[in-house]
Amino acid sequence: MKVLVIGGGAREHALCRSLSQDPAVSELHCAPGNAGIAQVATVHPVDQLDGTAVTALARQLAADLVVVGPEAPLVAGVADPLRAAGIPVFGPSGEAAQLEGSKAFAKDVMAGAGVPTARSYVCTTAEEAAEALDAFGAPYVVKDDGLAAGKGVVVTADRTAALAHAASCDRVVIEEYLDGPEVSLFAITDGTTVLPLQPAQDFKRALDGDAGPNTGGMGAYSPLPWAPEGLVAEVLETVLQPTVDELRRRGTPFSGLLYAGLALTSRGTRVIEFNARFGDPETQVVLARLRTPLAGVLLAAANGTLADLEPLRWDEGAAVTVVVAAEGYPAAPRSGDVIEGLEKAEAADGTVWVLHAGTRLDEQDRVLSAGGRVLSVTATGGTLAEARDRAYAGVAEIALEGSQHRTDIALKAAQQG
Ligand SMILES: Nc1ncnc2c1ncn2[C@@H]1O[C@H](COP(=O)(O)OP(=O)(O)OP(=O)(O)O)[C@@H](O)[C@H]1O
Ligand SMILES: [Mg+2]
Repeated sequence: MKVLVIGGGAREHALCRSLSQDPAVSELHCAPGNAGIAQVATVHPVDQLDGTAVTALARQLAADLVVVGPEAPLVAGVADPLRAAGIPVFGPSGEAAQLEGSKAFAKDVMAGAGVPTARSYVCTTAEEAAEALDAFGAPYVVKDDGLAAGKGVVVTADRTAALAHAASCDRVVIEEYLDGPEVSLFAITDGTTVLPLQPAQDFKRALDGDAGPNTGGMGAYSPLPWAPEGLVAEVLETVLQPTVDELRRRGTPFSGLLYAGLALTSRGTRVIEFNARFGDPETQVVLARLRTPLAGVLLAAANGTLADLEPLRWDEGAAVTVVVAAEGYPAAPRSGDVIEGLEKAEAADGTVWVLHAGTRLDEQDRVLSAGGRVLSVTATGGTLAEARDRAYAGVAEIALEGSQHRTDIALKAAQQG
């Protein structure tokens, strides 16, 4: 099987790593990729938002499967010309990706499907926003309706700040505050059959103890020893399957990766958000534990044959990933610095590996930082504590001027089990 992956972050490096280990994959390509992906795939300098260029590349490579990683190309509809050209693609259509591209649309789908989520109002004027804020009270949750690269949501006790954020967006969703731990649950779907993966948890804030600004994610772990038994089955029945069924009923079937961001509140499980793609950095730990070869699973979703697939097999152990970010991330990350220690950070026995997010090669083939989140050091172990120790031992080997990382990824969970 010839596979083309679209994207160039640590999520795509994780996808490429798993695909490169699948004996069914004979050729692996990625566009645009990064310095780490280039070690396991042939990279192509193609604009990931350009559906015509991506389709031309897939045709030229005679790709048997295209996997679209990030939300921006999905919401831009890059999967559509691929499908129209008869190329199997893992990733929803532009219309179905509105589940992530518009928070108001997602709320409408959830209302239609009877999926439990925060009560909300969609507001377009300052008066509507003020009324909605006062209806729910503090803490206020104000969400830009559209894609905002992780910067669209403000959660604050400050009414003025909440109003200011609403004013800076064309359309916002204002919703009730949800209390309780968050879980990311991914499901692979072909539009009818839904196959949940193992749950994971990510760390959104920049600094230890969940302080500092929101980021794209500073680390993740799986499994969740503290999660209630039966959580996956419950979410499949009350959230994932009804959502997939609702989108199919509306004539916009969703195939690809359905990401449910959940809050486990005292009143039950509630959906915080949907995404239309694998989460980054949760993918790094979820795929680290998946034993079933990946390509066949993604192809079955693309071809509508998920119901025929054998149950997925999982590693019983744990996985932890720690993000190494550039100085100044997320506000103003510096880039262009040489990264050293990448080989030393990896374990010879395959229990620690470094996934690249924002990196590039210079003329002398040195690896340079080229983004806010630079690396995602990932490790497996028999327990979360072991995986965590290994991941941090890997991080300690990496030298990048001014870089930062959290020191408490998976700490509490590792102490629990
Ligand atoms: N109703 C809510 N109550 C409490 N916290 C919330 C609520 N909605 C969102 N949040 C917090 O804000 C974060 C970001 O919200 P959300 O996931 O909707 O935004 P996003 O920008 O689409 O995120 P992502 O980058 O993960 O796709 C959540 O992970 C959660 O911590
Ligand atoms: Mg989102």
